Amino acid sequence: MTVDGAPGAASQPAARVDDGVSEELLGADVLAARIRELGAEVSRDYAGRDLLLVCVLKGAIFFLADLMRAIDLPLELDFMAISSYGAATDTSGVVRILKDLDASIAGRDVLIVEDIIDSGLTLSYLARTLEARRPASLEICALLTKPSRRQMEVPVRYVGFEIPDRFVIGYGLDYGERYRNLPYLGVLAGEAGGSDA
Ligand code: IMP
Ligand code: MG
Repeated sequence: MTVDGAPGAASQPAARVDDGVSEELLGADVLAARIRELGAEVSRDYAGRDLLLVCVLKGAIFFLADLMRAIDLPLELDFMAISSYGAATDTSGVVRILKDLDASIAGRDVLIVEDIIDSGLTLSYLARTLEARRPASLEICALLTKPSRRQMEVPVRYVGFEIPDRFVIGYGLDYGERYRNLPYLGVLAGEAGGSDA
């Protein structure tokens, strides 16, 4: 495309509606505004420190990309992939490391960047694992939390949004690996909600 500074309809992302979405929960603009606030908070809190963002793949990728551009500090980045055994919309609590960090976190100020805290089982396992590696500090930044679903308390320093007990997709979050590319956060059509199965 030609970049000439002229505003045009073609430069706006299309408002996408997917068959799998029953309703939009958080629009792209709402997400962007809140993530800028979180970035400013992190920038204040970590000034002069040795910030290392640890992104939990794959759901947190868009959140990470937007958050880190809103942080006005020198920082480094690493990735971790974990998988919980369980049904498509529920966590079993058994967590497996699929990809570990590239580098040591000893002595670093680690901020875990996660998409969503549901039961809390995944993050509490991850936090315990990373704490054992002796970082200077370890905090959690989650875009979303569903407090009504919590089975295990996790100390979360930064939260984007508290949401009700609905299964959400888009903005990096998946259902069966699909829908991650939706630019907004939607509710999965036909989701049961409230299920503790
Ligand atoms: P927890 O261990 O129950 O806290 O589950 C955390 C993980 O489950 C997240 O990192 C997501 O991958 C997944 N998850 C939980 N709730 C949702 C949701 O509403 N949509 C998409 N993924 C979810
Ligand atoms: Mg997932």
